[in-house]
Amino acid sequence: MDSIVVTGNGALAGEIPIAGAKNACLTLMPATLLSDEPLTLTNAPRLSDIRTMTDLLASLGAEVSRLQDGQVLAMSSHDLNNHKADYDIVRKMRASILVLGPLLARHGHAIVSLPGGCAIGARPVDLHLKALEALGAELDLRDGYVHATAAGGLRGGTIDFPIVSVGATENALMAATLAKGTTVIRNAAREPEIVDLARCLQKMGAQIDGAGTNTITVQGVDRLHGATHPVVTDRIELGTYMLAPAICGGEVELLGGRMDLVGAFCEKLDEAGIDVLETSKGLSVKRRSDHVKAVNVTTEPFPGFPTDLQAQMMALLCTADGESVLEEKIFENRFMHAPELIRMGADIDVHGGHATVRGVKRLKGAPVMATDLRASVSLILAGLAAEGDTTISRVYHLDRGYEHVVRKLEGVGARIERIKGQ
Ligand code: EPZ
Repeated sequence: MDSIVVTGNGALAGEIPIAGAKNACLTLMPATLLSDEPLTLTNAPRLSDIRTMTDLLASLGAEVSRLQDGQVLAMSSHDLNNHKADYDIVRKMRASILVLGPLLARHGHAIVSLPGGCAIGARPVDLHLKALEALGAELDLRDGYVHATAAGGLRGGTIDFPIVSVGATENALMAATLAKGTTVIRNAAREPEIVDLARCLQKMGAQIDGAGTNTITVQGVDRLHGATHPVVTDRIELGTYMLAPAICGGEVELLGGRMDLVGAFCEKLDEAGIDVLETSKGLSVKRRSDHVKAVNVTTEPFPGFPTDLQAQMMALLCTADGESVLEEKIFENRFMHAPELIRMGADIDVHGGHATVRGVKRLKGAPVMATDLRASVSLILAGLAAEGDTTISRVYHLDRGYEHVVRKLEGVGARIERIKGQ
């Protein structure tokens, strides 16, 4: 397994290009199953999760051509010949559950492996299933698979989510586009990835109102046609790299960055003493002074502070002036980066969903282990400002969500290299 070595090297300067959003691409790709015409995505990120989704769609008989070094995905599900998503692929990536709604809507049946949990939590899919039942699906859970049928097709209905779920909203939205009649989705997720999916579906002929609000209304249509759609900018990669100059000092411009994607996050950076400026090419970030102020953070569904930036924010707060409290309200086990940061000299206490961080003057480089995607990048951020070398093992987690992380950070003056594993 590869590892990454980061050496604290002072202030950063330059530009970092931000890629298309992993979490948008992972729901846009299954949308190809809704039509027998080609769907082409541009600005697609080059990530292992995208390759996993490609393999899953191919296992169903869809064609996915990676063009322009993977930045363009030309897809077609005209010749679908299998409606079963096998456990051996689904277990690698939970987002695989997003083929369930489209398969059911277009073909009237689907067999999809239950995804199982992951490092950050149990992550059930009960809300996905209840939403599809509200659209008339009949579900039978056995042998670790969801056997779903919709004889005569899905029909419009009302879906009331008890809690906000990004994936369940996406599954419901895709299924509703071909359901007979009107569907209303209440307490819908409002993430930019939902808005991006709705825009793509509308280009395919879907009739959707309210995406980005907590109530989405869909008028079902008989069929959807092909389209070409650019994947929205990755707000989590954006927020991650915004923290690099915040932690190290200096000034970095994030190309393609958009303030509307990271509103709540920028408010917290402002509170901590970090300036974010909109430029003609994106967002420029620098510290107002040498000292970052302690701030309290609570993760919430969009437009609140994103849970996917909590680990990275903790890395910043490890050397802030004072005590910060981070409350993780989305997932039950998303502080696994804390013990690794403590190995670097951070002063952190974790109690259930709360982590109290008391800032120290400087972290010290150490060997640490990546435990999940966002934890792995928070360790890199900590290493950028730490004294000496930090060696991060199990960086395969990183490859799921960050393309060319070494090249992007080297490009702004970081001392970072990837060491090939045995
Ligand atoms: C999406 O996961 C993202 N993944 C996650 O990003 C992100 O952290 C999460 O949304 C929250 O923003 C993708 O888009 C591929 P949820 P998802 O359904 O859809 C519970 C990353 O690092 N829940 O909004 O799985 C769930 O356990 C990843 O890029 C149920 O109880 O998240 C959680 O506590 C990590 N039943 C809460 O809802 C369900 O049926 C929110 O989960 C579904 C979810």
